[in-house]
Amino acid sequence: MLQITGVSRRFGDVTALADVSLEIRQGEFFALLGPSGCGKTTLLRILAGFESPDAGTVTLDGADLLGQAAHRRPVNLMFQSYALFPHMTVAKNVAYGLEREKLPKAEIRDRVGEVLEKVGLSAMAGRRPQQLSGGQRQRVALARAIVKRPRLLLLDEPLSALDKKVRAEMQLELKRLQHEVGITFVVVTHDQEEAMSLADRIAVFNAGRVEQVDEPVALYERPRTPFTAGFVGASNLFAGRACSAGLAADGLGVLPGASDLPDGTPALLAVRPERLRLGVGPGGASGGGPGGAGALRGEVADVSFYGGVSHVSVVVPGRAEPVLVATQGATQVRAGTRVVLSWAPGDGVLVPQ
Ligand SMILES: Nc1ncnc2c1ncn2[C@@H]1O[C@H](COP(=O)(O)OP(=O)(O)O)[C@@H](O)[C@H]1O
Ligand SMILES: [Mg+2]
Repeated sequence: MLQITGVSRRFGDVTALADVSLEIRQGEFFALLGPSGCGKTTLLRILAGFESPDAGTVTLDGADLLGQAAHRRPVNLMFQSYALFPHMTVAKNVAYGLEREKLPKAEIRDRVGEVLEKVGLSAMAGRRPQQLSGGQRQRVALARAIVKRPRLLLLDEPLSALDKKVRAEMQLELKRLQHEVGITFVVVTHDQEEAMSLADRIAVFNAGRVEQVDEPVALYERPRTPFTAGFVGASNLFAGRACSAGLAADGLGVLPGASDLPDGTPALLAVRPERLRLGVGPGGASGGGPGGAGALRGEVADVSFYGGVSHVSVVVPGRAEPVLVATQGATQVRAGTRVVLSWAPGDGVLVPQ
């Protein structure tokens, strides 16, 4: 439905977007994920018509989008700050865009009523924004954005102003709403958990470039670039060279991993904390000794209990950073416990460096 091809944008010396190409499908919940300053907002502003690219094309349903004036595009951008009118009621705020289009009064009333019901704000229609909670204001902004029935709704960090609990609720809400209204959503976020929980597919951005586009699980389990492996979820990254059994790691021997990289390719091995097995006791030697292929020996430096999971950081001789292990529930190990770390070869992902 939306085809972005070779879009670039510079601001002076800063390259905000460098040759970005993406295809977004009808009805999809698509996320642009990346650290602050990587060009996400610039891309949304180009799609909305508030910014022009230096190069590239964008088509919506096969027709050129960039040549159309912002207000003519079937695209709506919901801003980071919701920009509600403080002196207007909730219903008026939502009706505003339709009134500007001079739609019949009865139609406006029906559509506003319908949308307020969808976002669960029917009872608040007569209130003003300052009489609402943060989550409710967020819903008003959403209602105002979908009441015009755009083909494409762009959301820039939509949940960043909310506290953690409300945020989790609104994530579910947003997903439900998108499903219900069937509008294609493109959401920008720097929060990888948010992107993973919301989106059908995610484009990972780094310094104005697209690193990888994938479904959340694929992105998490099979990162294709060092940046993605490091940015999406916590990972233990080991540097070395690809070999038949996995990775010949600098200073640590052979570590198990699955890859189709030619032997000797400089690579990173990414192992998720929850995929590491933590054994207590002397175990085998590091680097493929009797403790199993690629077992690492180390000493627990720190244990943090988070309720559902515990995080154990293990110092391994020959490696500067501790290895992070996530275990279900509480764990028996303490700082100072000597442990053996192992994982299945399929749980080690090799990424060319
Ligand atoms: N109007 C502008 N003038 C100058 N630099 C800008 C402008 N808009 C964005 N930038 C720069 O472009 C880069 C990308 O910005 P932005 O798209 O806002 O990133 P993000 O939304 O991913 O945080 C940043 O370095 C930012 O400072
Ligand atoms: Mg931004």
